[in-house]
Amino acid sequence: MSQKSEDLLTVLDAGSSKVRVLVAELHEGALRYRAHSVVDAAGMRKGVISDLHPASRAFNQAATEAEEMAKAVIANCVVGLGGPHVRGVNSQGGVSLGNRLREITREDVRAAVDRARSVSLPADREIIHLLPQQFILDEQPGIHDPVGMVGSRLEVNLHISTCSASAAQSVVTCANKAGLEVADTVFEGIASAEATVSADERELGACLIDIGAGSTELVVFFEGAVAHTAVVPIGGDHFTNDLAVGLHMSVQEAESLKLDYGHCVVTSVPSSSELEFIGGGSVIRTIKQRYLSEILEPRARELFHLVRENLRQGGVLGALGAGCVVTGGGARLPGLLEVAESLLRVPARLGYPVPLSRMPDELIQPEFSTAIGMLLYTHRTSVLRAAEDQGLRAKLRAIFAGSV
Ligand SMILES: Nc1ncnc2c1ncn2[C@@H]1O[C@H](COP(=O)(O)OP(=O)(O)OP(=O)(O)O)[C@@H](O)[C@H]1O
Ligand SMILES: [Mg+2]
Repeated sequence: MSQKSEDLLTVLDAGSSKVRVLVAELHEGALRYRAHSVVDAAGMRKGVISDLHPASRAFNQAATEAEEMAKAVIANCVVGLGGPHVRGVNSQGGVSLGNRLREITREDVRAAVDRARSVSLPADREIIHLLPQQFILDEQPGIHDPVGMVGSRLEVNLHISTCSASAAQSVVTCANKAGLEVADTVFEGIASAEATVSADERELGACLIDIGAGSTELVVFFEGAVAHTAVVPIGGDHFTNDLAVGLHMSVQEAESLKLDYGHCVVTSVPSSSELEFIGGGSVIRTIKQRYLSEILEPRARELFHLVRENLRQGGVLGALGAGCVVTGGGARLPGLLEVAESLLRVPARLGYPVPLSRMPDELIQPEFSTAIGMLLYTHRTSVLRAAEDQGLRAKLRAIFAGSV
């Protein structure tokens, strides 16, 4: 082992089609790429673990391959949570700070957030993230960080991401069975956004759309904060399955046809274009490429119709001033951005993750947005937490210094 494991940060993105492990080292406070692995997922169904043993074997294989490449032992990791069981809800709560005006402390902020988070959740739901949208101090809204300001009542608008407690526990159990301790969990949509959505887009209003294999995660930002999170139960594999059924072929054959010739706008494919492929029973079959698109386009339209309805019901359809950022492996299907633009009526761009230093170029692809974003998110939040703790320690030191 060439490096102490404490210097490494490891994330495990347990997708429906692939398990991705990404290892970074902390170099002078910044993240630097160290190793990665990608293995086929197993034991997953509809975005949740349905069979623990094959799933934990896949986790173990991914961790072992990453360890070999990193030349270090990976003892713990951050895991991603995604799939249709993840939901978001907005809440509001606040605290009175007494009759006289006084300075807001970090504890007051915590108390206000605690009040706002105490919405009653069904027994099987677990909170993944508490994301403050804005603080309201004595009826003055739009405050980002109220610590140090003066007032008598502090309120907070909070976005709460929740998931099924049993689905989350299954991911943790699988990681444990694979020999990994779970240091933290991150909603995969929040992670993908961290890697792909710019600060300007968050401010103007934008929707992150991560199209995975089994589902599509949505995160809407407005005025710099998370306004809405949701998951739509359609992903790239639904496109593949439609081709398999429509063309009477295996899922593997359909997947490779989709990757090589798929396009989801019929009119963009020349009507004369034909393709030859070897179908079941080793027979050579010829079909018009447009026929593929005639199957793929309705599915793409259905996906973005569901996205549109979800955003409309969440009251955020009009909030997308900067448009949408489409990422995840499913976003690579040609024509998808055109369908997104025509149904959502806002500009759409493909979301490539920001690279870590020393990261190989082959990882700068939409299917790595979640894993890279998990690293960035974990690093950013731990730096923030450390700064808060340091502030608190400095205050305590000052109090004790003053008391002697
Ligand atoms: N070039 C491509 N063209 C079209 N589709 C693609 C392409 N590359 C990957 N995909 C599709 O992307 C999907 C996999 O995406 P990704 O790896 O982001 O999913 P995942 O993270 O494993 O799943 P999930 O996030 O749903 O749990 C598959 O359905 C695959 O067919
Ligand atoms: Mg994914």
